[in-house]
Amino acid sequence: MGIKFDYSYAGLTEAELNNKVGQIQLADKTLKEKTGPGNDFLGWYDYPVAYDKDEYARIKAAAKRIQDSCDAFIVIGIGGSYLGSKAVITALTSTFFNEVPGDKRKAPKVYFAGENISGKYMKDLYELVKDQDICVNVISKSGTTTEPAIAFRFFKELLEKKYGKEGAKDRIFATTDKERGALKFLADQEGYETFVIPDDVGGRYSVYTAVGLLPIAVAGIDIDAFMEGGKSGYEEYAAENLEDNACYQYALYRSCLYNRGKSTEIMVDYEPSLRYFSEWWKQLYGESDGKDGKGLFPASVHFSTDLHSLGQIIQDGPKHIFETVVVVDELEDDMTVSHEESDLDGLNYLENRTMQEINEKAFLGTLLAHVDGGVPNGIIRLSKLDAFHIGKLVYFFEKACGLGGYLLGVNPFDQPGVEAYKKNMFALLHKPGYEELTEALEKRLPQ
Ligand code: PA5
Repeated sequence: MGIKFDYSYAGLTEAELNNKVGQIQLADKTLKEKTGPGNDFLGWYDYPVAYDKDEYARIKAAAKRIQDSCDAFIVIGIGGSYLGSKAVITALTSTFFNEVPGDKRKAPKVYFAGENISGKYMKDLYELVKDQDICVNVISKSGTTTEPAIAFRFFKELLEKKYGKEGAKDRIFATTDKERGALKFLADQEGYETFVIPDDVGGRYSVYTAVGLLPIAVAGIDIDAFMEGGKSGYEEYAAENLEDNACYQYALYRSCLYNRGKSTEIMVDYEPSLRYFSEWWKQLYGESDGKDGKGLFPASVHFSTDLHSLGQIIQDGPKHIFETVVVVDELEDDMTVSHEESDLDGLNYLENRTMQEINEKAFLGTLLAHVDGGVPNGIIRLSKLDAFHIGKLVYFFEKACGLGGYLLGVNPFDQPGVEAYKKNMFALLHKPGYEELTEALEKRLPQ
C-alpha cells in the first residue's frame, strides 16, 4: 500500500537477491527477538503501535498551546534530534512555509537552531525572531551535546528577558531522557514541560517519538496520519517473502550492490520538498552502516538542479556509485505550461503539459541515461506526498537500515566514531579534564 520498490534497473539478477532471502529473514528475526548487536536500542521497531498514548496526547496538547501562543517556534537539536522533524516538515508544508502569511499558514513559523556552531547563523536567527512571540523546543537525548546546549543558552536568556522566568518556563519545552542528563535536570529545576526520548530509541530512529512529533504537530501536520503510516509500514514489512516486502527488497538491493563493489549510494529526489528527507536518510544510514571499515557512503543529489552540476560525473565518472530515486506519483500542487503566440523560447510543444509531467520525463530520461552510463538505479515510488506516506517511508528506511546493518555485520544502533571529533574539540577549547590531550593536539595544529 503506497510504497513500491523497483530494482529492475539495478542490473541485479533475481537469483542474486533470492540467494540472500534466508539471511534477511534471519536478520529480521534477530531484530524482532532482540538478540543481535545493539539490541537495547530496538524500541523503534514496534514504536508506531507500542507508543505511549498518554504522552502522545500531551504532545498534541502542547502543540496546540504553542500554535496559540507564538509566531516563531525554535526547534533546537542536532543529528537525530532535528533531522527527522525537519525532513517531515519540509516534505509536507509549503516550500516557503515561513513566508506564507500567518492566516494561511495556521501555525507558527518554524526555525531550527543548535544544528551548527555558526555565530553568524545564531546572530541572524536571534535578530530575526527577537521581537516576535517565541516558543522553544530543546531536544537532546544526552542533554549534554555542545551545539544545542549553546543555542539553548541564547534562547533561554532571550525568553527570560522577554517574558520573565515564570513566563519563559511556559514557552520552553524540553525533549530528553526520562531521568538522566543536564537537560533533564535543568528542565525539572526550571519547571519546563518535558517529553521523553525512550532509553531504547536512538536519536536517528526517534522520529515517531516526541523528538519528531512535537515539531511536526506544531507545523500543523496530521500526526495521527503520520503514525498510521508508521503502523502500516510495521505491519506490511513484517512479510517474510521477498515479493511482498519492499523493505526486504531495498535492503537486499543495497547489500548486493555493495558486494559487487559499489561504495556509494546516492539518494536522488526530484522534489525540493524531499531535500531534507535525503538529509535524514544520510544520517540514518551513515551512522548505522559506517563501522569497522565497512558501509556504503550515503550521498544525495537534488534533480533536476544537480543534473547541471553533478550530472556529468554521475554519467561519465568513476563507477563506484548507484542511485536510489524517490519519486512521488501524485502531487497536489502543479502548474501547466501556457501557449505563447511568438514562441520565441520554443516551448509551445509543451503547451498544456504540467510541470509534474515534464519532471517525470526528466526522471525517466535521466534513469535510462545513467543506467546506460553504468550506474545501477533503484526506484522508490511513493503514491502520494502526505503524512501517511511519509510516516510509512520513515519506517521503510528505518527497518531496511536495521536489516542492512545486520547483513553487513555491524551494530546499526551505535555511533562510536562520532565521539572522536568531540574529544578533540573539548581539548582544543580547554575543557577541564582534557589537559593531556590539549597538549598533544596543540602540537599538531596548522601553524
Ligand atoms: O543518532 C544519534 O544518536 C545522533 O545523531 C544524535 O541524535 C545526535 O548526536 C544528538 O544527540 P543528543 O540528542 O544526545 O543531543
